[in-house]
Amino acid sequence: MLLHHASVILAPYVDLTPGELRAKLEIPPEQKLGDVSLPCFPFAKTLRQSPAVIAERLAGQINADRDDLRAESAGGYLNLVFRGAHWRSEFVERALSEGYGRSADGAGRRVVVDMSSPNIAKPFGIGHLRSTMIGNALVRLYRAMGYDVYNVNHIGDWGTQFGKLIVAYLKWGDRQALERAPIQESLRLYVEFHRQAELEPALEDEAREAFAKLERGDAAMRELWQYFVDESLKEFRRVYERLGVAFDSYAGESFYNDKVDPVVRKLEELSLLEEDAGARIVRLEEEGMPPCLVLKKDGSTIYAVRDLATAIYRKEELKADEILYVVGAEQSLHFQQVFAVLRKMGHEWAANCHHVPFGLITFAGKKMSTRKGKVVMLEEVLNEAAERALRIINEKSPDLPNKDEVAEAVGVGAIVFGDLKHHRQLSVDFNLEEAVSFDGETGPYLQYTHARICSLLRRGSYEELRVDRAVDGAHLSSEPAWACVKTLTGYESAIREAVRLNEPYAVARYLLALAKDFNRFYNSGKILGEGADEAEIVSKLSLAAAVAGVLRDGLQLLGIRAPREM
Ligand code: ARG
Repeated sequence: MLLHHASVILAPYVDLTPGELRAKLEIPPEQKLGDVSLPCFPFAKTLRQSPAVIAERLAGQINADRDDLRAESAGGYLNLVFRGAHWRSEFVERALSEGYGRSADGAGRRVVVDMSSPNIAKPFGIGHLRSTMIGNALVRLYRAMGYDVYNVNHIGDWGTQFGKLIVAYLKWGDRQALERAPIQESLRLYVEFHRQAELEPALEDEAREAFAKLERGDAAMRELWQYFVDESLKEFRRVYERLGVAFDSYAGESFYNDKVDPVVRKLEELSLLEEDAGARIVRLEEEGMPPCLVLKKDGSTIYAVRDLATAIYRKEELKADEILYVVGAEQSLHFQQVFAVLRKMGHEWAANCHHVPFGLITFAGKKMSTRKGKVVMLEEVLNEAAERALRIINEKSPDLPNKDEVAEAVGVGAIVFGDLKHHRQLSVDFNLEEAVSFDGETGPYLQYTHARICSLLRRGSYEELRVDRAVDGAHLSSEPAWACVKTLTGYESAIREAVRLNEPYAVARYLLALAKDFNRFYNSGKILGEGADEAEIVSKLSLAAAVAGVLRDGLQLLGIRAPREM
């Protein structure tokens, strides 16, 4: 908002539109250099004047025209200071208004987000957790910019491994065990299958046959398969509920089974398919990539061709303008190959398919072991975080009525924020104690700052976050207050940046900066102190309420709840 105002004001002086000017404006690294600055170097050539002379001239003109801004020239930069109290009132009032930070930039554009996408009958791994958290934040952030978002859980529910599972189940399965702990029992069956297949290689053929039957739609196979899918999904849904994640669709790989043939025929028509030791491949030498395997020797389909069918379906049936694949960096080559084959098929829209990769998470230097084969591994992490949160809450606010509920919000929030505050490509080493701490760069710190403001408002008898009385900016002229107001104005840009880069990180960092600035303001003088007049209290509480509103909204965009008391 600050940059917006500055660009509108300055535009006529430099003969540009506000839009053109906006990209040239900067927020100086230090407040003492001003609130907004314009580097004058780019104008030097056309104006045939030195940047210093240009800055000097602009400063003179602006100072003559306006008394709510002070302009200075320094080292070829024009630095602006927003002086008038009306700016402070206006910025705070705007920040308190409905839908603050939202825009309609994405209106009319449909984005399909492929996220989470765990594999049936396998543990919900840490990679799937990251995809779920990053994907969930992106879905909410895109929606905040007016995009029409459709998110799909592209469940891994197809492939030769289901032949193995079915064969193993028919031979050694235990229905009760499967119902009790589906993932564990499925893993046991896989292990058993591989052990027996060493001794009896014919089992592999049986498994292939079983999957081939499944692909042809054999009713008995289908029923067994469905059973595995349903049981696994029950487990996955528990995690989704805790994380507050919902999907528009669970159309997984199996959904595309009958959509693969037309793709293969098309590839044939275009003479893109080649025979390679019995298998069918698309060569991608010119693209500098290894060939993309399309059909196996036995004619069964694989991951890549299902992804081709999936992308085409999303474009043609779901009318996607853009497709995001929130999947670990280890699948980069796979997606590059899929997008390259789409381009070879003449689908220019492949340029709008984006792999959104991310790195690994480790816990205290160790990869989270999924060998125990339970979704529970992940649930254990969430449980431990919630328990730690509960311990802190017991100390800090022993009388809180809904402690368990709050501890859950804080524990889960700690994990989600601990992930999202990093660039997603980085590997993250998680330290639970640090992540759950109420101080430092953590989710709980933001939640706590928010709750503290809510309590401040309650004490001042402003139950709701909205303060309707007029804000008098004259009471917000101290350096810490102004720094906080300025940061408040950056919310919309933070959301834009997060969407532009597909990096929820941008909003996470923004919220940390806002909370820090607020706490500095808060600690700089009592808001409800004695002797303060009503207008001053209202103005300061309004700033506090605006910060709380943005913290709450921003956390919610990241998929984190913000309890009013903690
Ligand atoms: N199920 C896959 C895995 O766990 C991820 C699927 C990602 N989405 C996709 N369209 N390929 O590796």
